[in-house]
Amino acid sequence: MPANICTPLDIKFQNTTFAARKTVPFRRMSTPANIHPVFERMLRREDKEALLGQLGGVVWMTGLSGSGKSTIAIGLERALHAQGRYAVILDGDNVRSGINNNLDFSEAGRTENIRRIAEVAKLFASNGAVVICSFVSPTIAIREQARAIIGAGDFIEVFVDTPLEVCEARDVKGLYAKARRGEVKDFTGISAPFEAPPSPAIRIATADSKIEDSVQELTDQILPRLKRP
Ligand code: ADX
Repeated sequence: MPANICTPLDIKFQNTTFAARKTVPFRRMSTPANIHPVFERMLRREDKEALLGQLGGVVWMTGLSGSGKSTIAIGLERALHAQGRYAVILDGDNVRSGINNNLDFSEAGRTENIRRIAEVAKLFASNGAVVICSFVSPTIAIREQARAIIGAGDFIEVFVDTPLEVCEARDVKGLYAKARRGEVKDFTGISAPFEAPPSPAIRIATADSKIEDSVQELTDQILPRLKRP
């Protein structure tokens, strides 16, 4: 286990002990007063699923920056498309350049990032889409928040398991070098923790694999889980 990758029970690294994540920085709200959702008057999920000939669901990909999440997500979307499945990708850098461009990488910022994504993914899934979410989502608590919002029955957790050394050697975006120089703060794996999922539904180890093989492996495991109506 590399020094900078934290197991769920080990959130001390680089001589810093991270506080137990008990606080919820953005308070979870129930439906506010004077808000009257109209979900029950809209077409039902089953109506959309029947139209699409598939059941909605969320493929939640977690892993370090540079682990290959986005590339595998794009490959998975194409493979599902070729199989006649309607899929949508929500990806960290995309979402953070748009709807979530006001959020930072503090624990509070990441928690809110994932909360919003999970709510959006839930909306898409409840309209029959297969939603491929590609987010670092670095802690167990953050991923459990997503699972709770989306619903466990619609949530397939995929760990794109690429060692920190490999991600750092790839350094496609140059962010690891910047983080090592202290130019990017709170960088996952360097100066902020990553808690590997203890029991993901699917684990894809990419270090010694070609991208096409990782995509194929994931597609083969995902397809049987995406049931037809
Ligand atoms: S998350 O932690 O809130 O789930 P998210 O997946 O949205 O992160 O965004 C991660 C992407 O933002 C990385 O792939 C990387 O390109 C970029 N990034 C910029 N700063 C950081 C940082 N401090 N930690 C992690 N990723 C960062």
